[in-house]
Amino acid sequence: MSLSLLLLLACSSHASHFFGTVMTYSPKTTNNDGSVTVVIRYKMNFHSCRDSASWTCSIGNSCGTGSAPELNKVYMESSGEWCQREGIMTQQVPSNTSFQLILDGGNWVNNIRWRAVTLVELRSRSDTGQANRSPQTTILPAVRVPSNCQRDFNLLAFDPDGDEVRCRYGNTSLSECNPCTPPSLLNLSSSCSLSVSPSSSNDQGPYAVQLVMEDFPRQTITLIQADMLWEGTTIIALSKLPVQFVLKVDPEVPSCMEGLYLPKFLPPTPANRAQLYTSVNQTLEINISAEANVSMISELLFSGPYNVNQTTSGTGRFILRWTPSKGEDGESHPICFVVQAVLSSTKYHSELRCLIVSVGNEPSSNATATATPQVPITSPATTTKTPAASNQIVIGLRVRISSLSPLSDDDIRNIVIQQLKDELERRGIPLNFTLSSVGRV
Ligand SMILES: *[C@@H]1O[C@H](CO)[C@@H](O)[C@H](O)[C@H]1NC(C)=O
Ligand SMILES: *[C@@H]1O[C@H](CO)[C@@H](O)[C@H](O)[C@H]1NC(C)=O
Ligand SMILES: *[C@@H]1O[C@H](CO)[C@@H](O)[C@H](O)[C@H]1NC(C)=O
Ligand SMILES: *[C@@H]1O[C@H](CO)[C@@H](O)[C@H](O)[C@H]1NC(C)=O
Ligand SMILES: *[C@@H]1O[C@H](CO)[C@@H](O)[C@H](O)[C@H]1NC(C)=O
Ligand SMILES: *[C@@H]1O[C@H](CO)[C@@H](O)[C@H](O)[C@H]1NC(C)=O
Ligand SMILES: *[C@@H]1O[C@H](CO)[C@@H](O)[C@H](O)[C@H]1NC(C)=O
Ligand SMILES: *[C@@H]1O[C@H](CO)[C@@H](O)[C@H](O)[C@H]1NC(C)=O
Ligand SMILES: *[C@@H]1O[C@H](CO)[C@@H](O)[C@H](O)[C@H]1NC(C)=O
Repeated sequence: MSLSLLLLLACSSHASHFFGTVMTYSPKTTNNDGSVTVVIRYKMNFHSCRDSASWTCSIGNSCGTGSAPELNKVYMESSGEWCQREGIMTQQVPSNTSFQLILDGGNWVNNIRWRAVTLVELRSRSDTGQANRSPQTTILPAVRVPSNCQRDFNLLAFDPDGDEVRCRYGNTSLSECNPCTPPSLLNLSSSCSLSVSPSSSNDQGPYAVQLVMEDFPRQTITLIQADMLWEGTTIIALSKLPVQFVLKVDPEVPSCMEGLYLPKFLPPTPANRAQLYTSVNQTLEINISAEANVSMISELLFSGPYNVNQTTSGTGRFILRWTPSKGEDGESHPICFVVQAVLSSTKYHSELRCLIVSVGNEPSSNATATATPQVPITSPATTTKTPAASNQIVIGLRVRISSLSPLSDDDIRNIVIQQLKDELERRGIPLNFTLSSVGRV
């Protein structure tokens, strides 16, 4: 079963029944033979929960081997407008390298064919000593805005390695979509905020939004793959993710004020881009509340891990619950939601809110880490960056040095190491550290 990535059934999916996709990845372990295990998660959005499309490897078997992807339903919109499923595949890749996955298929809105590309970078980073982790994000299959209202979508752009995350439109000449032509009523900032400013009722209708999210190291780093070194700079993206969804510009609404037709979030709904913490087997509870005085709030639309459970605790009151399992320890998972209201069969959406849930790695002393998950966390948790004083962290670096004259071990100890240390301090390394040479490779 070596070509399992190709196995997903590509069955009857009617034109325009596609609603976009998102893909992220988390490297897990390096095996004894040097191969790397990576967990790839994606959202498969179609009109029907039965439609599917297959991700394929761009070059032969460079994506390694694994079992067929598991597809589970995340949420189906109540009127049957769309269904989002989460696919999870675990690939074992021969050496820690990089590869591309491609989704390519039929038509979605506006005569655009669906196409998405993910670049998975698995080489070791010199700053973390581990394979690169992709940014974490998700999005609903469809979001709505009335044609006379302006709205900002501040997409979740969380990077587990602390890299700078940037968004841009897909580029047709890089075959990142087919074609990529961005809708003219959108304005995208590189920090992943998308503002929608329809100018007239002529703008009504569905649009395919085809974004690419990338992570850039904040300092020059080196990527290590077996015996090859690659010098990265802050202008080179490490990984590349597709973020694709449908934007629906609806008929005019009598008022754009939130809380009348368009639902308005109320406390204790967490703020957009809030970071919450929980641990393995510990259920995280997120309370969400919204009001709409003219329309009727009908449901909470959400996107996140497939095993997030939703309950309704009154009109406009919802609870999302998620219990991470052992495999998710140390990872951060995105959850996004929108409250939908209806008035005589017209649907209205609140703003989009997204959260990042970090599993078992609250950056504080272990005293608070065990105390907080006892109570449901429903507001942005404060981040106190206190490194455990007694804990020492040892990081191995492999460095290639070029010199005009031969270097003795003493030269390396006295000159090279000292210069490296000075440079790290000059760049403001926030640690009390010692640097020593282990040996030559
Ligand atoms: C698309 O990619 C090509 C090839 O790298 C580049 O020359 C071009 O500037 C890109 N276009 C945009 C709009 O960024
Ligand atoms: C997009 O945003 C930039 C920066 O905020 C602004 O200068 C520009 O006018 C905007 N363009 C449109 C079409 O709204
Ligand atoms: C990548 O491969 C190199 C060389 O085999 C190895 O030293 C390093 O630990 C590997 N890193 C990861 C994250 O797999
Ligand atoms: C909706 O009604 C509530 C209760 O009457 C009121 O407090 C709130 O201000 C109203 N919202 C708007 C946007 O008018
Ligand atoms: C989580 O629950 C499973 C099943 O009940 C158990 O086997 C495992 O030890 C638990 N893990 C932790 C970290 O509590
Ligand atoms: C969340 O909602 C539940 C049920 O309504 C309630 O018992 C709980 O106190 C709420 N938590 C917060 C922090 O508001
Ligand atoms: C979610 O619901 C399923 C089925 O009702 C249940 O097995 C699971 O334990 C629930 N999970 C949480 C976190 O409540
Ligand atoms: C962290 O936990 C360990 C073991 O449970 C304990 O010995 C240590 O005192 C704790 N540290 C802090 C800062 O609470
Ligand atoms: C750094 O750590 C060493 C050894 O633990 C200690 O002697 C020294 O005072 C520390 N320096 C600073 C600036 O904290």
